[in-house]
Amino acid sequence: MDDVLVVHGGAPLHGEIRVRGAKNLVSKAMVAALLGEAESRLHDVPSIRDVEVVRGLLELHGVRVSEGPAGELVFDPANVERANVDEINVHAGSSRIPILFCGPLLHRIGHAFIPDLGGCRIGDRPIDFHLSALREFGAHVEKSPEGLHLTAPDGLRGSKFTLPYPSVGATEQVLLTAVRAEGVTELRNAAVEPEIIDLICVLQKMGAIISVHTDRVIRIEGVPHLTGYQHRPLPDRLEVASWACAALATHGDVYVRNAQQVDMMTFLNVFRSVGGAFEVDDSHTGSGGIRFWHPGGELSAVALETDVHPGLMTDWQQPLVVALTQARGLSIVHETVYEQRLGFTDALVKMGATIQLYRECLGSTPCRFGQRNFLHSAVISGPSKLHGAELEIPDLRGGFSHFLAALAAEGTSRIHGVDLINRGYEDFEAKLAALGARVEHA
Ligand code: EPZ
Repeated sequence: MDDVLVVHGGAPLHGEIRVRGAKNLVSKAMVAALLGEAESRLHDVPSIRDVEVVRGLLELHGVRVSEGPAGELVFDPANVERANVDEINVHAGSSRIPILFCGPLLHRIGHAFIPDLGGCRIGDRPIDFHLSALREFGAHVEKSPEGLHLTAPDGLRGSKFTLPYPSVGATEQVLLTAVRAEGVTELRNAAVEPEIIDLICVLQKMGAIISVHTDRVIRIEGVPHLTGYQHRPLPDRLEVASWACAALATHGDVYVRNAQQVDMMTFLNVFRSVGGAFEVDDSHTGSGGIRFWHPGGELSAVALETDVHPGLMTDWQQPLVVALTQARGLSIVHETVYEQRLGFTDALVKMGATIQLYRECLGSTPCRFGQRNFLHSAVISGPSKLHGAELEIPDLRGGFSHFLAALAAEGTSRIHGVDLINRGYEDFEAKLAALGARVEHA
């Protein structure tokens, strides 16, 4: 496929699009299907590359995956088996999800091979929390040039851990391992993102016993067997926010079908403070949605800090920054989740935005990066007239923001590396076309 798109900016986006199940739940629910002894059925799965990668890995391990109507995937894990290392390695570097196969594979076949991980280049992205949790459960981890080999000669046993930081992936690792480990696991300082709560719902449907306590404590009673599940995932609130900001940055009006208010309250507050308008449509049974629009007049500068849930999601930051280039005054952004998630702003500066990055913490949320010399705060001075430019997609969310900037800009932009967007945004080009964006292949 042609990897370069030409965007003719300046047209407000108008119309309706629909989001499906959240990428960051769907991929984990697919891994959970490995743990069951019966068929699982996941509804409303988006057709994106992360899903293809996980499907490929499941199939290599003997899980039969079939497609039903309307984005339904069915997993039959009756014959889980060891996969060939070379075949697994075809998926090396393509996603972070393979690390979550450790616990389920150890439970099912006593061995796991994990290829080198990929995912967006937004920081160092170590897996130290994952490995120390797996070792606590009793796993032996051997590093080899091609990846990680794990075994559990004495089985996996529940334990008490405290995460150094409420990592989403490490919390999922513990959940997917503890549900079938012997005894009780108590996880402190756990992440409690809505996608994690939805994964807990999936596991509960399978027969797991998991309780979420106050102060980020999750307690899991291991059970010897799990069955399958049938699940409709929470909608992709990261994608919803991306389209909401597209409406704001282009002076448009976009109805996002299937968007849900409950998991987006922090985003909606910021959207309103900046000057965006929204209306929640939940008057009918069925999917409903949220309409987002620019109500006219000037947008307002704001100060914001990203944080773990219930704070402002790090994945909401990049599209908001594009909208903030159009707000009057000085906006301040403090990124506290990933140390290098402001690199995408270089392209915005090239397009005419005024953005200065700082190593200092410009905010009061406790942060691990202030002392470590990372450019993780930004001051945005607006409003700026953006103009078209030649751009290269750096990562998934940063890349979407480049599109937003190109759509809001005057003139034409050429965007390279567009295929990366297909990792996390289903039918990206078709949705742009449905909203009236003037985009064509080079
Ligand atoms: C998940 O990444 C999401 N990815 C990310 O979305 C999201 O930005 C992130 O959670 C935060 O919400 C998926 O769900 C596939 P973390 P994850 O472990 O699990 C540090 C997108 O675009 N850390 O919560 O990898 C880490 O470096 C993606 O959809 C360690 O130090 O994130 C980071 O600073 C991008 N050691 C912080 O924790 C570890 O072992 C949070 O990472 C693990 C993490």
